[in-house]
Amino acid sequence: MEHNILVTGGAGYIGSHVVVRLHEEGFNPIILDDFSNSEKSVLDRLHKITGKHFKSYEGDILDTGLLEQIFSDNQIEGVIHFAAKKAVGESVEKPLKYYKNNVSGLLTVIEAMLAGKVKNLVFSSSCTVYGEPDELPVTEASPEKPANSPYGNTKQIGEEIIQDTVTSGVALKSIALRYFNPIGAHPSGEIGELPLGIPSNLVPFITQTAAGIREKITVFGNDYDTPDGTCIRDYIHVMDLADAHVQCLKHLDNTESDNHFDVVNVGTGKGNTVLEAIKAFEAVTQVKLNYEIGPRRAGDVEKIYAQVDKSRKLLDWSTKYSLSDSMRDAWNWQKRISDL
Ligand code: NAD
Ligand code: WQD
Repeated sequence: MEHNILVTGGAGYIGSHVVVRLHEEGFNPIILDDFSNSEKSVLDRLHKITGKHFKSYEGDILDTGLLEQIFSDNQIEGVIHFAAKKAVGESVEKPLKYYKNNVSGLLTVIEAMLAGKVKNLVFSSSCTVYGEPDELPVTEASPEKPANSPYGNTKQIGEEIIQDTVTSGVALKSIALRYFNPIGAHPSGEIGELPLGIPSNLVPFITQTAAGIREKITVFGNDYDTPDGTCIRDYIHVMDLADAHVQCLKHLDNTESDNHFDVVNVGTGKGNTVLEAIKAFEAVTQVKLNYEIGPRRAGDVEKIYAQVDKSRKLLDWSTKYSLSDSMRDAWNWQKRISDL
């Protein structure tokens, strides 16, 4: 029997890596994506990596009819729901776009799952729900802070929607994975992150600067209360993150109750400063980066990294890749897409 898993947003950055790992672990991923933030060529690249052409649907998660059709055409065991808009700055300018896509989109997916009697749901949440934490490392029990962007709010609301649905007693088992900072790419260099326009995230900015697409990278502030004054984040290799999703599905499958919700941090448990990230990139790639110290970026959290005990125990999962591995793979991917 084929273990069909619907991967919404499966052509995107994290989703495409999860598709690879699902295939390697004996699942059959089925992709639903509207390619609003990804390229169709990802499907060929996935074939190159795995030797398999995955079934895929081009369409919108807001299309109830399409979801119903997918659930009736295929015996789906579980859903990994990635499809969402993720640009923090854009969400401030276009909040309705974010609430519609991320919140209404999640509602549509859950309703179709309930109608189709599909029980297992993995939801992409984010460490952004913690805001600026009072204590480090942050545990799943750390209090959430008011979201500082509509994007962040959609993740808090998303978790609440799932929690309330489960509390209502319906047959739904779900885990919300709170990702810390996903970076890196598949070691083959075939798939990776495709930022649109000028990247706002650190690692794509680093690799684009190294590739000569950007003249220099600005470090946003060196007067924070950290060892070198720059912000601290928990950078996790996207392949490690992908593994956590596979473990999550296995865990949900083994959970006897049909009515269950949990949240789990997915990070390395280690924090690195921006300057450490830059140095790790330079050391592993032997490419010198043109960087300068600039002012703080509004809205930045000073330091955050995950407490990972729960993921270790519950998901029987731990990270395999180092920060240097992530930088090496991010650079391989950048060279590939820049024809270097
Ligand atoms: P991504 O943009 O690369 O992937 C999302 C995919 O969903 C894209 O392929 C896009 O085309 C598709 N999509 C968007 N809206 C859709 C819709 N309405 N219908 C169908 N497809 C749609 O983003 P990603 O980095 O892979 O992020 C995946 C998930 O993880 C998102 O929910 C994001 O909020 C969450 N997340 C990402 C990060 C990060 O730093 N990348 C951190 C925490 C959480
Ligand atoms: C990392 C560090 C910057 C760019 C964002 C979202 C969050 C989550 C992940 C989805 C910070 C510094 C960055 C640059 C820099 N996404 N930096 N120069 O801010 O932790 O999180 O992406 O849920 O919601 O807010 O990630 O990669 O933007 O920044 O100095 O050009 O790098 O100040 O300290 P962030 P990031």
